[in-house]
Amino acid sequence: MYEVQNIITIDGPSGVGKSTVSRKVAAATGFTYLDTGAMYRGVGWYFLQQGVALEDGEAIAKKLEELELKLLPAADEESDVGVLINGENVSDAIRSPEMAMVASKVSAVPLVRDILTEIQRGYGDKGSIVAEGRDTGTVVFPRAAFKFFLDAQPEERAKRRVMQLQARGVEADFKQILMMTLERDKNDSERAVAPLKKAEDAVRIDTTEITIQQVVDEILRIIVGKKS
Ligand code: DC
Repeated sequence: MYEVQNIITIDGPSGVGKSTVSRKVAAATGFTYLDTGAMYRGVGWYFLQQGVALEDGEAIAKKLEELELKLLPAADEESDVGVLINGENVSDAIRSPEMAMVASKVSAVPLVRDILTEIQRGYGDKGSIVAEGRDTGTVVFPRAAFKFFLDAQPEERAKRRVMQLQARGVEADFKQILMMTLERDKNDSERAVAPLKKAEDAVRIDTTEITIQQVVDEILRIIVGKKS
């Protein structure tokens, strides 16, 4: 039987405002926020630290067996979700643009995706969630009740990333961030397994010229309208 899950999925390319929007939608609905990108970043950090080559299937399988990944809830609505890797707090380390690129590469490895997808589905089985990522509406939670796909022009997304990094006290160069944004778009949408793409039944929202609050309001309006 086809059973709809009490899940809201919010997918889209990097820098589109997914995290902020997802956190606000979670706060407004009382659902738990699941940042799937934080998991890929955590695995990327671990592989980098352990010197795992992404072509070495055996080493990847072995290291994944040794890996214990735990998500830490965000301190407040403005903060990122944290990550513990085998007990070590890597919450800050995983948020750099370099780690984002590593995560993007690691996320193309099928075994990594299988394991993280299973963990993510475990969260979905436990209760109502807002899941944010690249494939949450297409692969992880195809039976989610509400699906959204956020999009925006790459230049606008890079500009937002620069502002976000500067707010954290990190130096950021627009041209370099734009290049990294385009490279991640390419990696994430051209990989063979679970590429970034809009689910057929997802609502697309272009955020280029609207504020975060307008995106959140639009999502909540659709959810309320669909429920009643
Ligand atoms: O959302 P983010 O920037 O934290 O994600 C980091 C990388 O992880 C992203 O470039 C691709 C990968 N990712 C993925 O492949 N699937 C997801 N559901 C979430 C992230």
